[in-house]
Amino acid sequence: MMREKIVEFLKKNPNYVSGEELSHHLRISRQGLWKHIQELRLAGYEIMAVPHLGYRLVSCPDRLLPFEVATHLNTKFIGKKIYYFQTLSSTMDEAVKLGLAGSPEGTLVLAEAQTRGRGRLGRHWISPKHKGIYFSLILRPKILPNVTPMLTLLCAVSICEAIKENLGLEAQIKWPNDIFMHHKKLGGILTELNAEMDVVRFAIVGIGLNVNTEKKNLISGATSLKEQKKEQINRLALLQEILRRIEKNYLYFGVHGGIDIISKWREYSLTLGRRIKVVCQKAHLEGEAVDIDSDGGLLVRKDSGLLEKIMAGDVVHCR
Ligand code: BTN
Repeated sequence: MMREKIVEFLKKNPNYVSGEELSHHLRISRQGLWKHIQELRLAGYEIMAVPHLGYRLVSCPDRLLPFEVATHLNTKFIGKKIYYFQTLSSTMDEAVKLGLAGSPEGTLVLAEAQTRGRGRLGRHWISPKHKGIYFSLILRPKILPNVTPMLTLLCAVSICEAIKENLGLEAQIKWPNDIFMHHKKLGGILTELNAEMDVVRFAIVGIGLNVNTEKKNLISGATSLKEQKKEQINRLALLQEILRRIEKNYLYFGVHGGIDIISKWREYSLTLGRRIKVVCQKAHLEGEAVDIDSDGGLLVRKDSGLLEKIMAGDVVHCR
């Protein structure tokens, strides 16, 4: 794509690049080049154009534009197809539609804002525009429906790895799917299934992360990466790293199963070893979170000594 090539060339050459050099390099006419520059400016790129000197890229917009996401992503299937929206009610609904219409595995639905972003247990996910990362991925894993909690764990691990790699910060996972930092919630994962008794047709994993979210948009008990790092975060680079990590862990999971994912999950876990209360469909339960099972279930030792396995529910850490 031409816009991608122009931006890439200008990024590589931070000083002025002459129109002649640029049009020669891209094999397009000077008029053609000018048209693309105008389009890029409309998309939010600040590009100086000075007679006799040429073009200079001053700044890029803080947008998760599909061609930027795809550039140097280097994945095999994740993000090969990207649907990008300024505002959606929820990326989950859009991804379900695409999944039903046969969109391939790895299709990414990205939104800069959501009006009805949702979390687990019917909760609302506040998604202010251009501040966070909100996306859903279509996966078509060849697994039984009861193994799908592994997808959530795999994504949680991938997010922690990406945050560590890109920002040097340590995130933790509260079982099953909350991303925490310093005991405040940073993000969450919502997995929805389109499945029959014994086949998963597709799974949608939805990820929401508070990245540059302002304090006024953070509910109590929530935090953002900007608040933690005390600087503006590059959303694009973080999104790319998350996608790469998800693909890597997903492919590994497909070949070797979940053992490694589980041991990585244990390392990042905020829940294991703690006294917890779980509110689930069955009842309330209290005890110590001792381990995670091979299918992603949480093993809780009750005060009676009995071990109970929880597959879903809301966990409260007691201390
Ligand atoms: C949770 O914490 O319970 C999960 C939150 C998941 C939020 C993400 S944002 C992108 C995707 N679209 C949604 O409506 N929800 C998920």
